Amino acid sequence: MSSSEEKPARKKLTLSAKPEGEKGDRKHKPARWSQLQRDRSKPAAGTAGPAAADKEKAKRRGPASLAGAKGRGEKRPSAAAAGKAENDSAKAAAPRRRSLPTVPSQVKFFAPCPRGLEAELARELAELDATEVAPGASGVEFSGDLAMAWKVNLWSRLAIRVLWQVDRGSYRDEDDLYRAAHRLPWSDWFAVDRTIAIRTVAHISPLKSLNFATLRIKDAVCDRFREDLELRPNVDARAPQVPILLYLDRDAYTLYLDLSGEPLNRRGYRVEPAPAPLNENLAAGLLRLSGWTPEMPLLDPMMGGGTILLEAAMIALNMAPGLKRHFAFENLIGFDKVEWTRLRKDAEAAQGEPRKLAIYGCDIDPNMVRAAGLNLKAAGLLDCVTLREGNVLEIPAPDETGFIVSNPPYGVRLDTDATFYADLGSAMKQHFSGWSAYFISADPEFPKHMRLAASRRIPLHNGPLDCRLYEYKLVAGTMRKQPEQ
Ligand SMILES: C[S@@+](CC[C@H](N)C(=O)[O-])C[C@H]1O[C@@H](n2cnc3c(N)ncnc32)[C@H](O)[C@@H]1O
Repeated sequence: MSSSEEKPARKKLTLSAKPEGEKGDRKHKPARWSQLQRDRSKPAAGTAGPAAADKEKAKRRGPASLAGAKGRGEKRPSAAAAGKAENDSAKAAAPRRRSLPTVPSQVKFFAPCPRGLEAELARELAELDATEVAPGASGVEFSGDLAMAWKVNLWSRLAIRVLWQVDRGSYRDEDDLYRAAHRLPWSDWFAVDRTIAIRTVAHISPLKSLNFATLRIKDAVCDRFREDLELRPNVDARAPQVPILLYLDRDAYTLYLDLSGEPLNRRGYRVEPAPAPLNENLAAGLLRLSGWTPEMPLLDPMMGGGTILLEAAMIALNMAPGLKRHFAFENLIGFDKVEWTRLRKDAEAAQGEPRKLAIYGCDIDPNMVRAAGLNLKAAGLLDCVTLREGNVLEIPAPDETGFIVSNPPYGVRLDTDATFYADLGSAMKQHFSGWSAYFISADPEFPKHMRLAASRRIPLHNGPLDCRLYEYKLVAGTMRKQPEQ
């Protein structure tokens, strides 16, 4: 299961509105990288991720600190709050209540990710202290308390969203789905004044109409609310406060509360669109797969809107990718604002000060240099990364060794692509010996035209595109491969 990206809202921004002292830092056509200011004397701060800071603070607070959500999640919405939602009926003052909300201490979650990144996401989740981590198809299952899911929302760079599995079972038809959803204690999980929407994703399903299945789940949730509280939640298909996901395969259904809401790749920094941008989750995944670490120089010589550079700079400064946004879990009854504020404050404290990094970006198109600059500026990272306009076939390496991670143009024209890839292979060999290069491409002819021996080919999906990440260890004199027939 995977989620589609939605388009970010466009804002008109300009690079010229720089704070004092920044003006003129970024020239469009510097002849050499060395002309651009950089300072790598400081050690990469805070690259240990959230775990170290988090564990230290958890130790001080005692073992109950991260598990806080379960105990504190037992609040019910006041009758007044519930009454605001739909009609102010006096009925809301006397809802029929069950005794306690049913949020078990160990909850099952599923985090979808771009296909091919499951193993990396599993490693990332284990680093975040998730338990029972099990990679599956297009995502990873894990367990923990609710606070674990908040932490994953805040820190995961690879997950597309975090789903709380509230039910799973077998089904044959829509009535089975209705009965299953009707059995669940929805009003323990969210107040009736929250808006909902049901999304159905089917892998293989015997049902004729997924829309009808969606409708039946919506009816079941609303009917159950009516029976418990004599009120029902409203539907907001566009921006629900509580998104509910129904996942179907041949004979099993799974119901999830979507704890993220907007996909997690919406970090909140993409202000200027670029054609064919990489999904942020995939960009972060490429960096992990390459083995790049912030001590090593990194170059994306065909950066487009700069997604790879942005993700790299955020990793180098240990910036939690979810700090600039809100999440659907904030709308649930189990949400503990004190605990969440603590997690956010820990993330802020773990973040390194913005500083010049050995991260370089280049694009032949001046509009893309501008777009990448605007995106970096929106993330507060413009001064951390060195950008230039230039042709990947001509630019010199910015350092003696380092990593290239890039997403070359694809599908322009077959013959143009072939010539370009051959020239790219030559440029790599000529200007980047000593570097490791990682190119993601959906073009199966890419490695043939590059005429370099790839040391790894990692299958990945970029949305619907079946891709490979090709690894080239660029050692002078040993790379050239005979053209493939
Ligand atoms: C697929 S896009 C990269 C998208 C980028 N990864 C992102 O997330 O926005 C390919 C980029 O390569 C750039 N490009 C094409 N030919 C180039 C060349 N010879 N030198 C440098 N950049 C080039 C294009 O302008 C385009 O921005």
